[in-house]
Amino acid sequence: MKLSLLLALVAVGADASKILVWPAEWSHWINMKIIIKELISRDHEVAIMRSSAYTDFIKIDIPEATYIDFYVPYEEGHHLQSMDKVLSQVKLGDPAESSFFGKAYAMLSLRRMNQCELVMKNSTLLNSLNATDFDLVLADPTVMCGELIATKMGVPFVYNVRTLPAELHFSLSQTPMPLSYVPMINTEFSDTMNLFERTMNMITYVYQTIGVRAGLSMMDSIVHKYIDSNRSFLDIVSQSSMWLIRTDFAFEYPRPLMPNVKFIGGFHCQEAEPLKDQSLVDWINEADDGIIVFSMGSMVRSMHKSKAEVIAAALARLPQRVIWRYDGEMPDSLGANTKTMDWIPQNELMGHPKTKLFISHGGK
Ligand SMILES: *[C@@H]1O[C@H](CO)[C@@H](O)[C@H](O)[C@H]1NC(C)=O
Ligand SMILES: *[C@@H]1O[C@H](CO)[C@@H](O)[C@H](O)[C@H]1NC(C)=O
Ligand SMILES: *[C@@H]1O[C@H](CO)[C@@H](O)[C@H](O)[C@H]1NC(C)=O
Repeated sequence: MKLSLLLALVAVGADASKILVWPAEWSHWINMKIIIKELISRDHEVAIMRSSAYTDFIKIDIPEATYIDFYVPYEEGHHLQSMDKVLSQVKLGDPAESSFFGKAYAMLSLRRMNQCELVMKNSTLLNSLNATDFDLVLADPTVMCGELIATKMGVPFVYNVRTLPAELHFSLSQTPMPLSYVPMINTEFSDTMNLFERTMNMITYVYQTIGVRAGLSMMDSIVHKYIDSNRSFLDIVSQSSMWLIRTDFAFEYPRPLMPNVKFIGGFHCQEAEPLKDQSLVDWINEADDGIIVFSMGSMVRSMHKSKAEVIAAALARLPQRVIWRYDGEMPDSLGANTKTMDWIPQNELMGHPKTKLFISHGGK
């Protein structure tokens, strides 16, 4: 099994290790939790750092883990709310109001938390972490600090992520990125590009890289202040011992990979349990042409009504019954065949014999 192989690599020798986890929220946490539970089942001790600004989502307990709560002066859910704001401006909001400048402004106004700086300057917290003698830090690189805590304590760290802007997970792991045949993730190009596409691919890489480096200058000053005045933040990120990437090679075009970059896609797959909700079971059983499951991930709960109308009208034309994870204003064009739910038992639905198709945004 892929997961056991990876975790055997992560574990330091055969003895139980002490592992500190620096998590992110929502689907990132759903994935991280699976690795944490596997580590615990192999007798490793796991401690999870939990910010007071995270939502309830991450507070669902793994009883066998230790939680290290730390306080930051932001309201609970702050992190999620600022992401929601950007998502609604850039992708899901009123198309009439999402001009190019509106989108750019929303990206720039993404309220940044200086959570990492608050952790790095709290010597009480850092000393107590250091006193635990952790062997490894397992970090989500989409929220900074795990790598800095590890570097401060002098222990190795491993990242668990799907992708990063400018594909930093490849460039910082020193993986060659031949842009002539490896398309950037959001370009929709294939591995066969004409001259124009290759040029656009290169431009995409360059502007994302410049943007990311500019955006991370704040992190550089934290590194200079608390770790080493001669190192940059990206220099520290590039020291990751291993990159666990949540995709499968089947979804990639041929490309070079470094030995410490491991594709772990599918590690979260598990047998579907029977559906618990009897009214849902009855509704599915009455679907003579089967059902379609439609969800755009944990974060996309709603969208502007004008967008929902278009989707609902298209779904209404299908012979199948559709279960749509949606929690926004109900579109008038919602068909009798479509059921909206604010949260769906996705794995159970995917394993159901009546399920014919899954429509998703491509994440978890
Ligand atoms: C530093 O961390 C400790 C332990 O988590 C906490 O009790 C204390 O309030 C923190 N100090 C500041 C200034 O946030
Ligand atoms: C962490 O603890 C070790 C002893 O276990 C000590 O040698 C080291 O200086 C400490 N590091 C920091 C940054 O406090
Ligand atoms: C930073 O680099 C300078 C010049 O190479 C060197 O003198 C200094 O000791 C370095 N500082 C640290 C903290 O490594």
